[in-house]
Amino acid sequence: MTDETDTDDVRADGGVAPVGVKLGSTRTVAVFPNGEVTEVAESLTCLATYEDSLTGEERVLFGEEAATEYPDRAEYTLRSGLPEDDDRADLTGRFFDAFLGDAGVPTDSAVVYAIPSIDNERGLENLRTVVEGSSVGGRFTRAYPESLCGAVPAMGDGLEAVDEIFVSVNMGSTNLEVSAYRRGEQVAPYATGTVTGNEVDRRIVGYVEEETQRRVAIDITTAREYKEDHADFVDYEAFDDVVQQPGGGSHQFTIEDSVMRAVDEYVDEAVEEVANGFLPKLASTNMKVYQLALEQPVVLTGGMVAIPGLVEAFERRLSEALDREVTAVAPDEPVRAAAVGAQRIAERLAAVHAGGADAAAAADD
Ligand SMILES: Nc1ncnc2c1ncn2[C@@H]1O[C@H](COP(=O)(O)OP(=O)(O)O)[C@@H](O)[C@H]1O
Ligand SMILES: [Mg+2]
Repeated sequence: MTDETDTDDVRADGGVAPVGVKLGSTRTVAVFPNGEVTEVAESLTCLATYEDSLTGEERVLFGEEAATEYPDRAEYTLRSGLPEDDDRADLTGRFFDAFLGDAGVPTDSAVVYAIPSIDNERGLENLRTVVEGSSVGGRFTRAYPESLCGAVPAMGDGLEAVDEIFVSVNMGSTNLEVSAYRRGEQVAPYATGTVTGNEVDRRIVGYVEEETQRRVAIDITTAREYKEDHADFVDYEAFDDVVQQPGGGSHQFTIEDSVMRAVDEYVDEAVEEVANGFLPKLASTNMKVYQLALEQPVVLTGGMVAIPGLVEAFERRLSEALDREVTAVAPDEPVRAAAVGAQRIAERLAAVHAGGADAAAAADD
């Protein structure tokens, strides 16, 4: 999927195309210039191979097509968040090249990609190998934390986020990451793998089983789709679905509580991690940053933030937990935000790379 938005500024990047990339566990997004417009390409991070029925050659299919046509074989190559080993890195590289080629991302480019702030050197190194081994990034490739990249479009039309002191909470598939930022510098990063979008999906599977008195067993992908299509803190509406019975015939059922029960617990647990895990640690290591950051809105990033009303629910519950008024903001398009922010950083770096301070100042206009 790609779409285009107009850009009005004159490029100050010396002809190098600035590209932003987010290779995510669930979805991959690239933001890149195409002539006068900025394009966004988005795909499920999955890949399936099949044999060409005429030539016998192996062919690669990726994204939604792979997921729907080969549900039995489609592999989510970053299921755990990062490529764990060489095999996963190879597979992710094949996916990424197919994705980049299909989207037409410029090869002579400056690439910034968003990375998780977790302690997994091997995985991060493998991810770097994937991005640096790909067709793009002919000029250079750099990595920045996803919770910073995602905060960029949440805080303004430029790189305001890099001049501020704030707390950012990244709500993704495989981790909850919390960090303070002081003018782009990461302070007291904190992460947990227990409060995650994937865990919400797993709970939805269990709750649906309960809610339907064990008549319905959905898979994890269906649970994710229920969450993405129906979770809503503002006006949730119960919905129907149908399953085929093993003995033939079909069974229709209604989901009243399962989805909201899981996302409601998720927000409570995320607030708990921020209030009682991250913030005390930040206060004890850097009291001043703690004080200054909490006077600013807390920035929520990551795909889970796309749930309508989640930002307000989080804001209310965090204020209660801290017994003080805190506000929260989020980017308009949480799934794309990290790649959008990464692309803006790439623009700035490309300008500096191309022409020193003058070009960098021009890119600011
Ligand atoms: N519209 C949506 N509503 C609810 N959840 C969403 C939506 N879009 C994405 N998500 C969830 O966000 C999570 C992915 O977060 P994201 O930050 O994009 O990726 P990653 O974890 O790979 O860094 C997944 O659990 C996904 O189901
Ligand atoms: Mg993430």
